[in-house]
Amino acid sequence: MQEKKIDLSGMVNDPFQGKGGFMPAKIKEKVTVRIGLNENLAFPEEVIKELMKQVAAKIDPRIYPEDYCESLCEIIAEKYTLNSNQVVIGNGGDKIIDLMVRLTIVAGQNAVIINPTYPMYEHAAKVQGGGMTEFLLTPAPEFDLDTDYILSNITPKKDRLLFLCSPNNPTGNQFDEGKLRKLIAEFPGIVALDETYSNFGQYSLVKALDDYPNLIIMKSMSKLFGMAGMRIGYALGDEFLISRIKELLPAFNVNVASLELAKAVIQENKVLTDLTNGIISERERIFLELQKIAEITPYKSFTNFIMFKIKDYQADEIQNNLLKNTGVLIRNMSAVPLCENCLRMTITSKENNNKFLIALKDTINIL
Ligand SMILES: Cc1ncc(COP(=O)(O)O)c(C=O)c1O
Repeated sequence: MQEKKIDLSGMVNDPFQGKGGFMPAKIKEKVTVRIGLNENLAFPEEVIKELMKQVAAKIDPRIYPEDYCESLCEIIAEKYTLNSNQVVIGNGGDKIIDLMVRLTIVAGQNAVIINPTYPMYEHAAKVQGGGMTEFLLTPAPEFDLDTDYILSNITPKKDRLLFLCSPNNPTGNQFDEGKLRKLIAEFPGIVALDETYSNFGQYSLVKALDDYPNLIIMKSMSKLFGMAGMRIGYALGDEFLISRIKELLPAFNVNVASLELAKAVIQENKVLTDLTNGIISERERIFLELQKIAEITPYKSFTNFIMFKIKDYQADEIQNNLLKNTGVLIRNMSAVPLCENCLRMTITSKENNNKFLIALKDTINIL
């Protein structure tokens, strides 16, 4: 009997209008140096696995976790000298981004996004049925904010949420603190400042939370803390806004293993300090090495990655050849505004960084 085909597309939402959402490319080749997603593979594997073992012995998977990860909120609040009601934990920084959009936007309203930046802001706004008011940074190498232009082209009430990412992904720069403060002070809505990479930067604006009630700072434990696979992110801000964000969360949104591992990793002060210093000094070394390659212009970074522009070659052929011939996986940023022919690599261990450098030089030579 012939099955009757039903048109399912008419039964579901299509926020991306047939263009697809966030679909990372499928990698078929064997990856030996994984430096495309800014994970922290410099975090000593034996340390994180030992902590994981201790967590596994302690937790009971039959029991629901704490409602809102209260014990972790307290530890984080103490770290930043905040009240624990000023902290909300989510299933990764991406969940926090999604919550910020749900908090502020309904169909017909926009998130303000300053490209090039982290693509999940646009994704989250569209999933929510909202749109994007897009601005551009100034061109390379500054990638700076034109604050006056942005502020004078905002539509109050329609542009309800401003995403700022500092240090910024993928450009790597950290914006001038005064410019960020001006945007936060004058934007007529909520500002979500993404500080996922601030551990590797020059400053954090957590100290400014008291000055700006409309400011929410978003953080992730995927980078310095080496927990990308465990999915922990958090937001810091005004108690009223944080309580509204909590209302949007599904019950028990973070699993007990991630919660307990986060609490354990956050106490590893010596490991974290050594890692921060190690990554920063490796970043500076690799930057100088990249500068020595005639075909490459690296951009100054305050993160755990470096974006660089390549001339005389196509970024995708460099990326593909690196992967095919050496197993080194980096990210092609060419499709992103202002990042034509740019690639992005993550700083990890000295050994991995060297493997990348050698592989890159060899690839340029054989192409
Ligand atoms: C700027 C920025 N924000 C947020 C995230 C999300 O981090 P996660 O969802 O892994 O916590 C990332 C991940 O790469 C990022 O680069």
